[in-house]
Amino acid sequence: MDHSASLTVDDLVAALKSAAEPTRLRILMLLAAGELNVKDLTLILGQSQPRISRHLKLLTEAGLVERFREGSWVYFHISDRQPGGRLALRLIADVDARDAQMRRDRERADALKRERESSAQAFFEAHAADWDRIRTLHVAERDVEMAMQDAIGPGPFKFFVDLGTGTGRALDLFADRYTRGLGIDVNQAMLAYARAKLLHGGRTHAQVRHGDIYALSLADRQADAIVMHQVLHFLSDPGLAIREAARVLAPGGRLLIVDFAPHDLEFLRDAEAHERLGFSHDQVKGWLRDAGLTPKLVRDLGPVATDGADKLTVTLWLAERPDAPRNSVAQTSQQISSADSNQGRAQRAGRGAGKYEEAR
Ligand SMILES: C[S@@+](CC[C@H](N)C(=O)[O-])C[C@H]1O[C@@H](n2cnc3c(N)ncnc32)[C@H](O)[C@@H]1O
Repeated sequence: MDHSASLTVDDLVAALKSAAEPTRLRILMLLAAGELNVKDLTLILGQSQPRISRHLKLLTEAGLVERFREGSWVYFHISDRQPGGRLALRLIADVDARDAQMRRDRERADALKRERESSAQAFFEAHAADWDRIRTLHVAERDVEMAMQDAIGPGPFKFFVDLGTGTGRALDLFADRYTRGLGIDVNQAMLAYARAKLLHGGRTHAQVRHGDIYALSLADRQADAIVMHQVLHFLSDPGLAIREAARVLAPGGRLLIVDFAPHDLEFLRDAEAHERLGFSHDQVKGWLRDAGLTPKLVRDLGPVATDGADKLTVTLWLAERPDAPRNSVAQTSQQISSADSNQGRAQRAGRGAGKYEEAR
């Protein structure tokens, strides 16, 4: 939230007027606890969709609330970019928490949350066998997560982004190190699960969005820290994804990639839709440098001896965006993108595959 911005007198009056209505105050109370869509709000508040939409329109126009589309659904949350959002939080802080109406709203919202969690969980359960099998193939998650926490540093990060967030694990893991967290994933079912988990855990400073790693709808140089955990091996063009992450990274910002070291478990291509069977140190370092980033650390977490021969090694790569002046960074990315367009996407993929063969 932009704490430096303030409202003009006219805007303040408009914002106060928009909040000065019982249903709209109830909506603000509900949105302060997490994102909701129009359907959720009609169910919780027991009012018709046109009425709820009208209330939301007024709150949005006055800058207290923001909306975003996810597929055919539109979600709302308290604005974290406009001073109206800060005002909304101040106003509802003074509402009596014991108010019967507010308590009923909260209970209905919790019930809806539980219902959503269980349907998202059903999806996840359908895939649980695969997830568990994969987990047993590499080193313990706990060790990986501790190594990730060590590598990325203590923060605090103003804006933390988790690309290919899946169930939102990294948003949860790093929750105490960022002011605002955003998880992006292309899979709606995963996002539903992540959103339910964040709501359940009270992580109101983290959100998830539908999006494509190759074309992020984020402005340049915004994020202080970006994580890509077990995502790269699903991608046909990991280098392109790394360049897109680098574009979004602020000068001095950090990108942490965690993925498998090269392996030969071919069955993972069919069984788990893996595009790539792991990556060598140099392969990823090359992509990082091509994207204008400076590799800072590479660390392997190998299986312990008793794990057997078919276990996978997990590698962490940490890179930093140089603290360069605007012009030189812009020039670098222009040079990279013109080099890319000359070489073409197909050739890039081929070059990556060649390095991969060598590394194996
Ligand atoms: C194995 S999961 C890892 C999830 C999470 N990072 C974790 O480690 O728990 C890979 C995730 O990447 C997402 N993904 C794959 N391709 C993507 C793309 N092009 N854009 C955004 N997300 C993508 C998948 O939907 C999936 O949720």
